[in-house]
Amino acid sequence: MKVTVVGAGAVGASCAEYIAIKDFASEVVLLDIKEGFAEGKAMDLMQTASLNGFDTKITGVTNDYTKTAGSDICVITSGIPRKPGMTREELIGINAGIVKTVSENLIANSPNTIIIVVSNPMDTMTYLVHKTSGLPKNRIIGMGGALDSARFKYRLAEALEAPISDVDGMVIGGHSDTGMVPLTAHATRNSIKVTEFLSEERLEQVKEDTKVGGATLTKLLGTSAWYAPGAAVSALVQAIACDQKKMFPCSALLEGEFGLSDLCIGVPVILGRNGIESIVEIELSDAEKAHMAASAEGVTKTNGLLDV
Ligand code: 2OP
Repeated sequence: MKVTVVGAGAVGASCAEYIAIKDFASEVVLLDIKEGFAEGKAMDLMQTASLNGFDTKITGVTNDYTKTAGSDICVITSGIPRKPGMTREELIGINAGIVKTVSENLIANSPNTIIIVVSNPMDTMTYLVHKTSGLPKNRIIGMGGALDSARFKYRLAEALEAPISDVDGMVIGGHSDTGMVPLTAHATRNSIKVTEFLSEERLEQVKEDTKVGGATLTKLLGTSAWYAPGAAVSALVQAIACDQKKMFPCSALLEGEFGLSDLCIGVPVILGRNGIESIVEIELSDAEKAHMAASAEGVTKTNGLLDV
């Protein structure tokens, strides 16, 4: 199993590190445009192998896509990250050109690859790859919902004063501060609905904290987060590589599902060796449906800024 991660910045390197630590891939290629940067990150990570107990071989390359040839899964993290006060949507001008070129180079060397898009605005960048790459829709996946759901579970556990492993929940919709739809009515602690434990006001707070999860970190860190994004990507890569058939909310091309078409947005999907094995249509309340429709409208508006 060969995995390429494009962009050796904080998210890309953290993603490569988590993939390696889980030790399910034979090879991870880390590619960056900055001379020697990916090579340095790869060498540093390889020097953790004997300490962390993994055999995954991590190689760093400067913009040489021939070294990515034959990748089963490619992750695109390249582009500029958010600065404090910026929305993900403001990155579109620079990141669209980068994501298009990167995906073309990846597919030219690995025509059978599955692509996971991380670059922001993520739903629109995923749509861009659909529009420009010619890959079948099951092989293009946007990472957002898996991260947003992890942040949701963190906030739920905090509110419940419970260990995170007791908590389950999902965030669907667009990967933006207003577009996320945290499914509070479906969230559980040990199969008991969290609505049994938390007041409406407290749940509203959990929802709001989840939606601005990325912005809160950007303000604290001065740039966007990397540990949870890296871990979320590695979970998706593992689900595909190991054919786990696990359910994650991911940005997928919709063709009528959830009453939506011609956009990529976060919905529950089953991930396995074919990428998106299926989209899981769940029953939403009227309020959730309305929130999802507004979220889709926002994503479609951002898609309209693309030159495709
Ligand atoms: C975040 O929410 C990177 O968009 C990503 O942290």
